[in-house]
Amino acid sequence: MTMGDPEEARHESRPRELSDEMIKAGRHRELVGGQWDAVGRHQSDYLISQGLMPHHRLLDVGCGSLRGGIHFVDYLDAGNYYGIDHSEDLMMAGWEHELPVEHQPKLPKENLLANGSFRVGDFGQTFDYALAQSLFTHIGLSQVRLCFYRVAQVLKPGGKFYATFFEEPEGTPIDAPGGGVRRSYRNPYWNFAADLEWASSFAPLEYKYIGDWNHPSNQKIAVFTRISRRTGRPRLQLRRAIAAGHRSGTNR
Ligand SMILES: C[S@@+](CC[C@H](N)C(=O)[O-])C[C@H]1O[C@@H](n2cnc3c(N)ncnc32)[C@H](O)[C@@H]1O
Repeated sequence: MTMGDPEEARHESRPRELSDEMIKAGRHRELVGGQWDAVGRHQSDYLISQGLMPHHRLLDVGCGSLRGGIHFVDYLDAGNYYGIDHSEDLMMAGWEHELPVEHQPKLPKENLLANGSFRVGDFGQTFDYALAQSLFTHIGLSQVRLCFYRVAQVLKPGGKFYATFFEEPEGTPIDAPGGGVRRSYRNPYWNFAADLEWASSFAPLEYKYIGDWNHPSNQKIAVFTRISRRTGRPRLQLRRAIAAGHRSGTNR
């Protein structure tokens, strides 16, 4: 049996498991990146500035221990916040220890889904807004692509998906980003903005780069708007044509 590359294994993304002692020590806050108040408040303030209203339904993809969630639940009408994360322990730590008791009825536990492959259709809902804060910094591009594909299926027409990422400047050598300090192929991931545009192009989403949004760790942000399937089709057809060209050798 092969054990794989231990160096790579160290950087695998696994669902976090948390004991009571770890939660008491605040590990559920550290595991989502710390900066609890600043980053939590920043994401809700930003979406509100982008038009999020209390009657809207919001999907928080990779919601973790509800660093942003506690603010969204406060702002949104009861039942309108939904979160998905591959760590059930993180979400439960947030619900039990961070969400004020008086707000717990505003977030039914059925609105939190433990899943690592973005099965957001399991909620049986459609959404006005979606957010992936500090998620794409921890998953590879094939997972990012799947995330776009599945989130697009539950966004209302015109619905908006905001996603943050560490931006690699255009022209950075692929094999030595950050002068060799960073790795583009492992956690935390740095991407070109064009990577996200590409990953979203398999779904009926229109990409718009926003860039700086005063994030405390200088993550950048882009917005992906749900377009109708008909509008989206030419881009998807183009993708298929390119893939077919590669198969027949016409693109060489
Ligand atoms: C840096 S934390 C950010 C959490 C939250 N968005 C916030 O701002 O506090 C990244 C989160 O992504 C989750 N995650 C990583 N891979 C995932 C996957 N494949 N599906 C769902 N969640 C994932 C992690 O469990 C973690 O909670």
